[in-house]
Amino acid sequence: MRKNAPALFSLLFVTLFIFGPRAGAQEIASPSGKLSLSFRLTEAGEPTYSLSFAGRPVVLQSRLGIELRDAPALTAGFAVVKSETTEKDETWQPVWGEVKSIRNHYRELAVTLQQTKGDGRSVLVRFRLFDDGLGFRYEFPEQEKLKYFIVTDEKTEFNLAGDHKAFWIPGDYDTNEYAYSTTRLSEIDASRGRKDIAIAVKSIPGDNVVQTPLMLKTAEGLYVNIHEAALVNYPAMNLAVNRQTFSLSAHLVPDALDNKAYLQTPDRTPWRTIVVSDRAADILSSKLILNLNEPSKISDTRWIKPVKYVGIWWEMHVGKSTWNYADVGNVKLAGTDWSKLKPNGRHGATTANTKRYIDFAARHGFGGVLVEGWNVGWEDWFGNWKEEVFDFVTPYPDFDVNELQKYAAAKGVKLIMHHETSASATNYERRMEAAYRFMKEHGYDAVKTGYVGRIIPRGEHHDGQWMVNHYVRVAEATARRQIMLDAHEPVRPTGLQRTYPNWLACEAARGNEYNAWSEGNPPEHETILPFTRLMGGPMDYTPGIFQIKLDVYAPGKKEQVHTTLAKQLALYVTLYSPLQMAADLPENYEQHLDAFRFIEDVPVDWDDTRVLEAEPGDYVTIARKAKGKEEWYVGAITDENARTSEISLSFLAPGRQYVATVYADAADAHWQSNPMKYQISSSLVNEQTRLRLALAPGGGAAVSLKPASAEDLKRLKPYGR
Ligand code: NOJ
Ligand code: CA
Repeated sequence: MRKNAPALFSLLFVTLFIFGPRAGAQEIASPSGKLSLSFRLTEAGEPTYSLSFAGRPVVLQSRLGIELRDAPALTAGFAVVKSETTEKDETWQPVWGEVKSIRNHYRELAVTLQQTKGDGRSVLVRFRLFDDGLGFRYEFPEQEKLKYFIVTDEKTEFNLAGDHKAFWIPGDYDTNEYAYSTTRLSEIDASRGRKDIAIAVKSIPGDNVVQTPLMLKTAEGLYVNIHEAALVNYPAMNLAVNRQTFSLSAHLVPDALDNKAYLQTPDRTPWRTIVVSDRAADILSSKLILNLNEPSKISDTRWIKPVKYVGIWWEMHVGKSTWNYADVGNVKLAGTDWSKLKPNGRHGATTANTKRYIDFAARHGFGGVLVEGWNVGWEDWFGNWKEEVFDFVTPYPDFDVNELQKYAAAKGVKLIMHHETSASATNYERRMEAAYRFMKEHGYDAVKTGYVGRIIPRGEHHDGQWMVNHYVRVAEATARRQIMLDAHEPVRPTGLQRTYPNWLACEAARGNEYNAWSEGNPPEHETILPFTRLMGGPMDYTPGIFQIKLDVYAPGKKEQVHTTLAKQLALYVTLYSPLQMAADLPENYEQHLDAFRFIEDVPVDWDDTRVLEAEPGDYVTIARKAKGKEEWYVGAITDENARTSEISLSFLAPGRQYVATVYADAADAHWQSNPMKYQISSSLVNEQTRLRLALAPGGGAAVSLKPASAEDLKRLKPYGR
């Protein structure tokens, strides 16, 4: 994203011809030849494609096309008028991320199609074939007979070669906050999502519709991930599954009028992506989705800084304090004098409490402090489909924004603003410029937005074209003011963090918060997220809960976090985000400062990443090298099953001694019966060491690896002795 250092070479073969339906297929192979793509027209002139990996079918011949409102469909009657093959090989540097440089190497096939009858409208299908998968999109060139058009349906198919194992959540127009199901394609039943009563707003379109990123595993052990890249000015794609034929077809999120997208030529759709490998770890290492996104639109990115933060947040989720200041059920934004309301005595975002978090952040080296519930309007924010809930500029009477600005600055900590929009995007759009000005005036340079509730404009959905454009407008408006962004409840990411690197993270999945007030996230949840939600971009999962059992907050409270404490540490490595929260309360960390050390140490920006082992739904072990430092961090997690992970440290610099500090589950730890027991040990290791990590059921291990000092060499024993 900084500079595109184009170690680029480009080959171009152009074929100009009119090929009727009978003409043969156009084929390309990926740079190493591992993947091959074939494009052909059917007898009826319908565009189709197929994809194979090392000679094995991944996608069987599948149709492409778009249907329009009040105009003939762009699905058939085509001839190929031009076909171009190019190759690109370049390397670019992300502003932040899992690795310091990214290779973008693909062969491209661009097929221009023209309808032979009627208005002779043309569409271009652009395929980019990488060694780790395929991206393709539709482009609509400027033309006399296609200017403004309304997409009513996208007919893209992914005809799969078998009844694969699928890791899925129900298709939904408004939320991604489901727990995952693992079934065969033939067994998908998205209606089970209706039983999840913890999710605020759900719109499940059908029993056979699922969301992307969809993770699949074939009987032969191929891993296939279907998603999209660069979702702008178009609705999100769900997938309708034919449970008999294993054919998936695009199911776009509709708008209030049941249209899908309003386009104007020249225009294009997002990329449809298929990442494929015979190693699960490769799926997690793929940079295909980022590569298909546009480079940064922000030229000077020096103000964008990955950060760890704490905040007034979990205490509300566990019921210890409240977002709202007063316990009244009916307030109007205009006309309420909040200073006249009777405080409920449990408000979290007070000046004193914020100072306590600032002190804690300063003491432990955290850059940010998030404060939720600081602004008026929380008394009736939830569930009323009300337009004017918040103004984003009026603090509650007990939150002294000026005083806190001085206090945070003196302690070298940045406050992070919270803008819960209650899904009233219209209200937010009217007020956001003033809100960002207010932020900057008060020393804030990061905002967490939220979209809990039914969307306004009424009838729109979280994942429809209008809202997709809204989130991008927010990313652009924040970038203009040098504000970093973390969006909760937006559409799920599609790699746009490359284009808007100030958009550090999103939630857009079931976060740790569900463990506080619902049946929670099963122990396998975090082993699936990297293969699904995180394929599109970083997640603000809010890990780091140490007080696993929540009955300390209210006797009998049965909710709990479904991991061990050590697994919460490992998540800082296995769930990548440039923005990571230490989500628990300061007083809980004070009880375990030895384990907290890992959260203090772990970076949020990396030079290198090695996925050491991974299997969706079972386990994930990742090693990462700190940005600009000779330090490595390892996170290993498992599902509900205990597991021993043996990892080679061959990634360490050869001939060098490191101190490995292992934060592991205690021998008798268990996510349910004994979740908070851990052990910490330090020893000397080198690139030849094999570390054995014993993970409890629902457990994990975290390891820091730092170059040993002369004193360490005297003080510590070699590993295993
Ligand atoms: C849901 C968000 O995910 C959570 O982080 C936030 O605290 C609440 N909404 C309130 O805005
Ligand atoms: Ca949420």
